[in-house]
Amino acid sequence: MNAAPPTLAEACRLGEARLADCSESARVDAEYLLSHVTGLDRAQFRAYPERLLEAVAWERFRNLIEQRREARPVAYLTGERGFMDFTLQVDERVLIPRPETEGLVEAALEQPARRILDLGTGSGCIAIALARAWPAASIDAVDCSADALAVAAVNIRQTGTDSIRLLEGEWFAPVTGNRYELIVTNPPYIGDDEPQPDEGDARHEPRQALRAGPSGMEAIALIIENAGQHLKANGRLWIEHGYRQAEAVRQLLAAAGFHAIETRADLAGHDRITGGHWPEATE
Ligand SMILES: C[S@@+](CC[C@H](N)C(=O)[O-])C[C@H]1O[C@@H](n2cnc3c(N)ncnc32)[C@H](O)[C@@H]1O
Repeated sequence: MNAAPPTLAEACRLGEARLADCSESARVDAEYLLSHVTGLDRAQFRAYPERLLEAVAWERFRNLIEQRREARPVAYLTGERGFMDFTLQVDERVLIPRPETEGLVEAALEQPARRILDLGTGSGCIAIALARAWPAASIDAVDCSADALAVAAVNIRQTGTDSIRLLEGEWFAPVTGNRYELIVTNPPYIGDDEPQPDEGDARHEPRQALRAGPSGMEAIALIIENAGQHLKANGRLWIEHGYRQAEAVRQLLAAAGFHAIETRADLAGHDRITGGHWPEATE
């Protein structure tokens, strides 16, 4: 791309052309990156197409476009991703929150809860969404990655959801003895032999956020097996899973003693989240 700063419209067009052979969302990618370097939104691009880019912004834009050509996710390049009605800081230490996970949050929000556990919190997206909806709830958010928890801590601070307690450790280990009304989790659920999902983006995301073990069901099975010991009577468990895992998840939930088990589809129509209720009498 040319070294002289172009207009906004021209920069968009040049960025899109440069990404056309390597990104299926070339236009949108270019717009996001242009928005990031100029501080303007897409409506403003349309309102002021003839506005000239400043030299520094043009230089940064060209640099980001080249990084995008190497398949670095747009969210890592801009350092942020929208989730529900708020924005999260993200970088290579955390999974980029997905629209499918908003479905998990929506299902969890259907029935109020005051004691909540988010397993594998990553960027903190699920815990933060629940804390914003239910400011009086007390939420524990666990992750085995200190790096991920550092990102979650920034997001918690920035969203003012300071009631969330971040805990480092393996699944239920940091919350031994605690019981919750609601457990939500988007654990790793890809098997070792499965190809990377989402092609580009996942190549840059933390392996422990995506890969669960040989079958892909290892983390889910472990969580279901131990969830009952951490749920109050009639507490709920909601799990995000791979689109071919719903039946296996339902069977594991039933075998563990859950009832009212149901699966919901994501926006693409794939079975994506499954949940169940723990029985009335737990002790
Ligand atoms: C698929 S990511 C989900 C992140 C975030 N909740 C979201 O929905 O975007 C799974 C998360 O589980 C964490 N994780 C993986 N293995 C774990 C384990 N054994 N104990 C606790 N957390 C684990 C990863 O570090 C990662 O942050």
